[in-house]
Amino acid sequence: MPFARDVKPISLQEGGTPLVPSSGIGKGLGLQELYIKNEGQNPTGSFKDRGMTVAVTKASQRGARTLVCASTGNTSASLAAYAARGGLEAVVIVPSGKVAAGKLVQATVHGARILRVKGNFDEALGLVLEVVRENPALYLMNSINPYRIEGQKTLAYEVFEQLGGRVPDYVVLPVGNAGNISAIWKGFLELKSWRISDRLPRMVGVQAAEAAPIAEAYEKKRDHVKPWGDARTVASAIRIGKPASWKKALRAIRDSGGLSMTVTDREILQAVDELASKEGLFVEAASATPVAALKHLRRTLGPRATIVCVATGNGLKDQESVKVDLERTPELSGGPDLLKALRDSTPG
Ligand code: F0G
Repeated sequence: MPFARDVKPISLQEGGTPLVPSSGIGKGLGLQELYIKNEGQNPTGSFKDRGMTVAVTKASQRGARTLVCASTGNTSASLAAYAARGGLEAVVIVPSGKVAAGKLVQATVHGARILRVKGNFDEALGLVLEVVRENPALYLMNSINPYRIEGQKTLAYEVFEQLGGRVPDYVVLPVGNAGNISAIWKGFLELKSWRISDRLPRMVGVQAAEAAPIAEAYEKKRDHVKPWGDARTVASAIRIGKPASWKKALRAIRDSGGLSMTVTDREILQAVDELASKEGLFVEAASATPVAALKHLRRTLGPRATIVCVATGNGLKDQESVKVDLERTPELSGGPDLLKALRDSTPG
């Protein structure tokens, strides 16, 4: 990390998340070694905390007072928590009506100032970049901030350790603004350049079918990404049409011999359901895209490949997308009703 040894980080003890071996999904697809890296167990419930600890510590060291980001939700929740921890102010700019309520609740309770802008995330980020350029008192906390990437790359180190000093064959992850795929690739490149590992994984970037500028560039073999004006998907975290780090992401995918592909909203919601019901992991919609992609990829990957799917965020934040109808669960009036209901639901 880019600090002298005596620097005390602004930390919530992020990272160290479980690498959970798949029990049901891998078997069903004929994949023998499938893991889910459960980033939803970070302090604010997403991988963003890995980078936020580094970037907020750096900002604090530099004497910044007001930290600002545009966000589809998780970055704002994470920034709000780490700013609170460091005694700094946070201002988060979100696209109005397009962020999961749980994430806005987090940003609010941690004391961030929330500004909603009409339009989408890409427009919100454009505004933030403009405002930061004009006002040096504001410190930019989006993943264009290189310190975010420095923190997020630690996922690669951790996976390597958790696999007993092995690099997986494939790392499959959702891609939105494209910071994370660039960060994880950087982590694996470092391990190799330091000769801690002798190989690299293939990076597989998954996007939602109607928010897929990077997958499109990959498929059409373009060396640049054309922005999508109207990105749409149930996976609100990755509803992004103009990814800021597109260049690094395309490089990670191509240099690693990986690929980029899309999955439909229907497939995403089915994968949320499968992760919850077969693995016991409740992830948000964006975080289920890798598992949705596995169905298309299983032949390409092969049965013996070591595959790590990154489950980037916790499902508890994004309850809108799963649409659970609690009214349909029975409400009982007393003991006898309860006994009968239990008897009816007990096999035999
Ligand atoms: N998964 C989740 C749960 C996310 O919140 C994000 C990004 C991604 C995947 C994609 O990561 O942008 O590095 O490619 N969320 C950002 C936010 C944009 O504002 O919270 P990426």
